[in-house]
Amino acid sequence: MFPDTRMRRCRRTEGLRALSRESVIEPEHLILPLFVVAGSGRQEPVASMPGVSRISVDVLRRQANEFRVCAVLLFGVPEESDKDECGSAALREDGIVPQALRALKAERPEVVAITDVCLCAYTSHGHCGVLSDSGELENDSSLEQLSRMAATHAAAGADMVAPSAMTDGQVQAIRASLDAAAFRSTAIMSYAAKFASSFYGPFREAARSAPKWGDRRSYQLPPHNRREAIRDALLDEQEGADWLMVKPALPYLDVLAELRSTARLPIAAYQVSGEYCMLKYAAQAGVLDERSAALEAVLCIVRAGADAVITYYAEAICRWIGR
Ligand code: PBG
Repeated sequence: MFPDTRMRRCRRTEGLRALSRESVIEPEHLILPLFVVAGSGRQEPVASMPGVSRISVDVLRRQANEFRVCAVLLFGVPEESDKDECGSAALREDGIVPQALRALKAERPEVVAITDVCLCAYTSHGHCGVLSDSGELENDSSLEQLSRMAATHAAAGADMVAPSAMTDGQVQAIRASLDAAAFRSTAIMSYAAKFASSFYGPFREAARSAPKWGDRRSYQLPPHNRREAIRDALLDEQEGADWLMVKPALPYLDVLAELRSTARLPIAAYQVSGEYCMLKYAAQAGVLDERSAALEAVLCIVRAGADAVITYYAEAICRWIGR
């Protein structure tokens, strides 16, 4: 007790503080999301997300040489005219994501390529799978589409596929489809605890994936429920996932911490578009120091138990911490 015990002794100098540091951000553990569009020479700023652009495959190829990040998460953003009821553009072997994978692997084969596996950007209605006549997301027929989409990505060189549709049984179905197509080494990062969150708002403009009507509450997790989230994530572990994910990150650190102490798989946390924008716009308003606030947010996500962090700040952080 005080005055014998003094916590400040070990906080006195930078050297002492560094010695007892429990959590650190490592560039190798950051994943940069990228939005890829068709065509060439395109680099279109996303209005809702300052500093983020949609890029075509040739621009990606050029940028890849300058990447400091070690891992990327690819989202395909098709044109409105390429969308249909069942998202068939997502299954094309020469689709946007397969092309992006080939370009990335040609330039930087060592960069870990992860792909988002979900139909929302590819369907005319903007929901994450196939709909029934009554407009409900049809679980089992969606699984078929998602499994084929994942196999297409594996064939084009994805190191990991990341199913984010929150349909039941998607990890099992995708694992079976990958194995049947002899992609036994392609890993699955499951968006295991993905909540129906308002924080995805800015992303939906970037990916042009907003549902045309309704919302995603019949498949994504209710923000009220931690137990349900853990249960859902543990099912994905049993179904054969190689990684789990918690998303969003900062408002759900309790879920992340509990999942870290319950599951055995590595866990990624997704600092989503709304979390990014809160920092970005506050910095633009001059009320937060962007660099220290962004580093602190990501550090706290690591401290809560994330092995990897998916963040739109990934490239900036690599530069800030001198990679
Ligand atoms: C696709 C998907 C979404 C995000 C990642 N994958 C949006 C959604 O579920 O509507 C959100 C990412 C972000 O907000 O940065 N289903």
